Amino acid sequence: MVPASASEKGRVHAVVVPYPAQGHINPCMQFAKWLASQGFTITFVNTDHNHARILASQSHHSSVWEAEGLDIRFASIPDGLPDHHDRMVDFAILSKAIDTHMPAHFEALVAGLCSSDASRPTCIVSDLFMNFTQDVANKFGLPRVAVWCQSAASFAIHVHMPTISSQGYLPVTDDSKLDPITSIPGHPPLLPKDLPSFFQDADFSNYMYNFKLRPFQRLQEAKSILINTFDDLERDVLKALKDDKINIFAAGPFLPPALLSKEDSRDNRTGTGLWPEDQECITWLENQKESSVLFISFGSIASLSDIQFKELVLGLEASQKPILWAIRPNLKDSIESVLPKSFLESDHVYLTSWVPQALILSHKNVGGFLTHGGWNSTLESLSFGVPTIVWPYFADQMLNRKWIVEEWKTGKGFQAAHSGLIARDEVERMIRLLMEGKEGHEMRQRARKLSQAARNAVQEDGSSYVNVKNTLRALLSS
Ligand code: UDX
Repeated sequence: MVPASASEKGRVHAVVVPYPAQGHINPCMQFAKWLASQGFTITFVNTDHNHARILASQSHHSSVWEAEGLDIRFASIPDGLPDHHDRMVDFAILSKAIDTHMPAHFEALVAGLCSSDASRPTCIVSDLFMNFTQDVANKFGLPRVAVWCQSAASFAIHVHMPTISSQGYLPVTDDSKLDPITSIPGHPPLLPKDLPSFFQDADFSNYMYNFKLRPFQRLQEAKSILINTFDDLERDVLKALKDDKINIFAAGPFLPPALLSKEDSRDNRTGTGLWPEDQECITWLENQKESSVLFISFGSIASLSDIQFKELVLGLEASQKPILWAIRPNLKDSIESVLPKSFLESDHVYLTSWVPQALILSHKNVGGFLTHGGWNSTLESLSFGVPTIVWPYFADQMLNRKWIVEEWKTGKGFQAAHSGLIARDEVERMIRLLMEGKEGHEMRQRARKLSQAARNAVQEDGSSYVNVKNTLRALLSS
């Protein structure tokens, strides 16, 4: 699907392309909305599959931006997989499909836009992992800004992965060499088990290893790289990357400005959820006491087994805290049959499927967050001053736990891997520690300090604001 005319003559027009997963679509859309608020016309390109899901889930989809006067148009291209295929089960399959099918479709889309002066793009703003967008940008002489949707720490690890591998740290096994990795400039010593999961084996023919590292061999082709973080959060790593001559800038957090500026606005939905959002949970939340609620969400990919759910629930019940729990629709139906009736029927528990998470985390009645530690969830909880318990599942989540627990000290982590079992006593102990104890209070204070730093970063003349403005100025004058 291609929009008939994507921009009026004279307007700056960015074609924005996220990696096709929720944790990338959300930040890219928030950044696109910010660009649109600065007068850009946006063509936002999803896969056909995700576009259809978003349309089906978000009844208010386009009305959100129309109401805000933003010029955001949507286009979509096929990823080559059958519609019923669950794309979040095996990333190698999705990534191969992206490489095989999306380049030609994207090229045709950009060619169509370039065929008229009225719709010709000024630039491409795309997820760093969408390598083919650089080829298309080069072909049509368009500058590209790459967007990195994880932490600067994760970016630095990707940059230095060949060295880490040559130092003999891989494969990572239970009895791995225990020396921490100290060769990442600006990064504190890192245990091999905290490396992103795609890098933990030593199989360099592994499709994901190459898919993830390929874009790092051509970083200099992008005009600049914008990261969804802020300077005060990852100063040393960002500085080291810049010292390494990488044209990288902290530009985040990519979150609804109204939430960050504490405006009393309920309509802060991203409009890009792949599942329908439950808005009623806000009413339930409003009826709870300040900082009393434990919010639980494991993002758009992680899942738990029945036995893990059961043990977790026993710990949650014992903690006696009000619980707001978002369990994705595909898991919720099966899980409800194994949960105790007492839990399902408790007034203290609000079990739902997909929520406006940023809005929930910004609510004063949320006192703690049990999370899988995805980068968006991590950044959202820090931006709204909510301390966390992290139970990582895969990808960069072990790394995010390390930073939360050891560097920012805004949360605690479950030690067991996501495939392991967390005993009910441990669940109860952690929740009480987070929400009742002195240690929890101190973690909340530190999270609130970072929240203020996040808000400062995106204000006019804040560090992220200035970084983005400078990037755009350089881009538009080139
Ligand atoms: C994935 C990876 O797992 C993560 O580690 C990586 O950093 C980004 O891509 P995901 O697992 O989905 O993302 O986690 P996360 O990064 O936290 O992103 C989930 C997004 O969905 C967040 O923006 C969150 O606010 C949103 N969400 C989640 C909702 O809006 N509603 C929900 O009910 C749950």
